[in-house]
Amino acid sequence: MFRLGWFLGNGFGMQPWFGDWAGRSMTEWTQPGLYVDLTTSLERAGFDLLFIEDTSMVEDTYGGSAETTLKYGLMAPKNDPVPLVPLLAAATEHIGIAVTMSTIQYPPFLAARSMVTLDHLTKGRAGVNVVTSVTHRVAQNFGYDQHFDHAERYAMAEEWMDCVSALWESWGPDALVHDQVTPRYADHTKVTPIDFVGRYFKVRGPLNTIPGPQRRPVVAQAGNSTPGRELAARNADTMLALAKTPAEMKALRQDMDERLIRHGRKPEDLKILFMAVPFLGDTDRDAQERFDRHHARKKDPNSIEQRLWYLSYVSGGVVDYKKYDLDGPVPQEVGNGETTTAKAWLEGSRDITLRDLAEGPGNYGMEFVGSSETMAGQMAEAMEEAGGDGFLLYPEVTRRSIMEVCDGLAPALRRRGVIRDGYSHKTFRENLLSF
Ligand SMILES: Cc1cc2nc3c(=O)[nH]c(=O)nc-3n(C[C@H](O)[C@H](O)[C@H](O)COP(=O)(O)O)c2cc1C
Repeated sequence: MFRLGWFLGNGFGMQPWFGDWAGRSMTEWTQPGLYVDLTTSLERAGFDLLFIEDTSMVEDTYGGSAETTLKYGLMAPKNDPVPLVPLLAAATEHIGIAVTMSTIQYPPFLAARSMVTLDHLTKGRAGVNVVTSVTHRVAQNFGYDQHFDHAERYAMAEEWMDCVSALWESWGPDALVHDQVTPRYADHTKVTPIDFVGRYFKVRGPLNTIPGPQRRPVVAQAGNSTPGRELAARNADTMLALAKTPAEMKALRQDMDERLIRHGRKPEDLKILFMAVPFLGDTDRDAQERFDRHHARKKDPNSIEQRLWYLSYVSGGVVDYKKYDLDGPVPQEVGNGETTTAKAWLEGSRDITLRDLAEGPGNYGMEFVGSSETMAGQMAEAMEEAGGDGFLLYPEVTRRSIMEVCDGLAPALRRRGVIRDGYSHKTFRENLLSF
């Protein structure tokens, strides 16, 4: 058995808002409707979690202006996803909901309190995706002149996590007395300041709210670089991973097992979810045709422009891909953003042109093409070979793709007995770690 998650890659932002199947997203993306439909469908299908991305900037690296960003709505506009979580939880009963918080955007106290509040409101189904933010424009919205370099960002994230974890433990397990006669609500000797003093954060504590059903909300981590892996090995319950083949999946799993053991944890304490993009169709041929059409559209100038914009984003706003000749070589700078993603893009790119790169295949993990039955078989086989814990699916978000995955693919996986057929526990972590 393996787990399924859905990566909501553009957070509480605009989902496809033009073209076929966009529905009314252009004007209704600010409302919860599509996200509620998504989450209830995922629960019906037996997903473990919905994973909500977030970023806080209007990028203007590409071409030195926000024109391309706002022409297509690329990662902006985007609403704050935290207030969306209780609305999704109110419509569901079991599925876990992980929301993104950046260690440069949220002071630890605010993050710890906000996440515990969500844990109460979701009755133990809240998770936090801890990220370090990617571009200078984000950092500049939070009081910094520019973003920290990669190593320092992760040092700060480690400290942030230590501080947040200490706050989550600042109320002892038996601090609540709940004696209405005396009266005595809590035992003050079991609610203690944390007196945290680090290089980046200084917090007295204790947290001013009581622990939620999970005490420690589920922690997710998405960076795949060495410091990203370390952060996950020390702190995370689940990690999002990029791999293109079962062999790469296996290698990452082994690497993480060693790191977990070094940090005194067990390999089964961390579930690794591999990104995967499904291209479904009624038949294998239909799926292949859709996949081919999808690739053919990459030659469209609008598509090339969006891909180049995205590469600029992934570089951390360091490389302006608009400056380079489309028919010339690919600039080989990794930048300071999503370094694992940037390296994956640049791999083997010395011999091709920038146009080839812009028109080429995506880089969001494994791609699966086929009917529901065929794809279920491919996914089961890949998991079997790699020994991973699950897939984090990253389809585009339209009501059509939601149906295809939740009412086509997931039932086919269930028939094979490779995904859950219900939820045996109450909380997100218990379900996530139950097998
Ligand atoms: C699948 C995936 C999802 C991510 N989600 C977010 C996000 O929601 N917000 C964000 O600022 N960064 C996000 N990131 C960035 C990472 O959390 C990390 O900070 C960055 O990729 C640095 O990665 P590295 O360790 O590979 O260099 C994501 C990265 C990946 C691969």
